[in-house]
Amino acid sequence: QTCILIGAPVDSGQKRAGCLMGPAAYRVAGLAEALTTLGHEVIDRGDVAPVPHAPMTHPNPAVHHLAETLGWTEALAQAGRAAAAEGFPIFLGGDHSLSLGSVAGVAAHAKALGRPLFLLWLDAHTDFHTPQTTESGNLHGTPVAYISGRTGFEMFPPFPAPIPGNQICMLGIRSVDEAEQRALIPEEVEIADMRVLDERGIGAPLREFLAKVAAADGLLHVSLDVDFLDPSIAPAVGTTVPGGTTFREAHLVMELLHESGRVTSLDLVELNPFLDERGQTARLMVDLVASLMGRKVFDRPTRQF
Ligand code: ARG
Ligand code: MN
Ligand code: MN
Ligand code: MN
Repeated sequence: QTCILIGAPVDSGQKRAGCLMGPAAYRVAGLAEALTTLGHEVIDRGDVAPVPHAPMTHPNPAVHHLAETLGWTEALAQAGRAAAAEGFPIFLGGDHSLSLGSVAGVAAHAKALGRPLFLLWLDAHTDFHTPQTTESGNLHGTPVAYISGRTGFEMFPPFPAPIPGNQICMLGIRSVDEAEQRALIPEEVEIADMRVLDERGIGAPLREFLAKVAAADGLLHVSLDVDFLDPSIAPAVGTTVPGGTTFREAHLVMELLHESGRVTSLDLVELNPFLDERGQTARLMVDLVASLMGRKVFDRPTRQF
């Protein structure tokens, strides 16, 4: 495949500075080299810059950096759409507000192709707030609401072909605010929270979702938040939540995704290298991308499970 790296040094979706160093950390940790080793072609487009906007206020006084977030959304939607037409975009974040733009870009491409787009959200959080309902005011908590076409994003460009709830699956969920919970109940989003993963393992719900994607001949965007992982193996994130996915669960997810052959674009978000331990989190994220893109422990021509 042709992997197109898009640096998205977005730091405006939350309040702890550092995610802007994410793209550099992935490059230092050897992302391009890992992909090349697997036989992929890699094009690094460098870092995107936000479209400039005059400061904007919002009726919810908690909301901050609205103009900057809008500018990133526009710039990344454009870069993402172009990249999706040429290859496999990998967005190097940056906090999770970058997905307002990355998924918009990929959705515009899917719409032009006339193919349905599915979304796999690997995260401790559902990120289903609107600018009205967020209490923290951190817009990294809002992208799934925008992507699924909820009202409350009137200041943003209309989302191209909003993704219906039954085309969205969330894995790893263990922190949901009350307003998100209320909004999610009527939606058909598949939420494999930690209770589900403890009962069923992580493979079963993911396989079911991938079967749906295949049945619809869909494109699949994967959004990987560092806090999907347990903080003990991935400390470099501002919003740690205990009880996250293990190293082995995370690799299994990536291997199943690879075998499905369905993934067409990827976000790597919320890495804050300032909080890392000697690059451990950045390296783990690179290894997970390698699993997603085809790295195997031992590769037999025919293998049954
Ligand atoms: N729900 C919380 C909030 O709105 C946490 C969101 C965390 N999101 C993230 N992308 N890490 O503030
Ligand atoms: Mn700031
Ligand atoms: Mn998130
Ligand atoms: Mn999160």
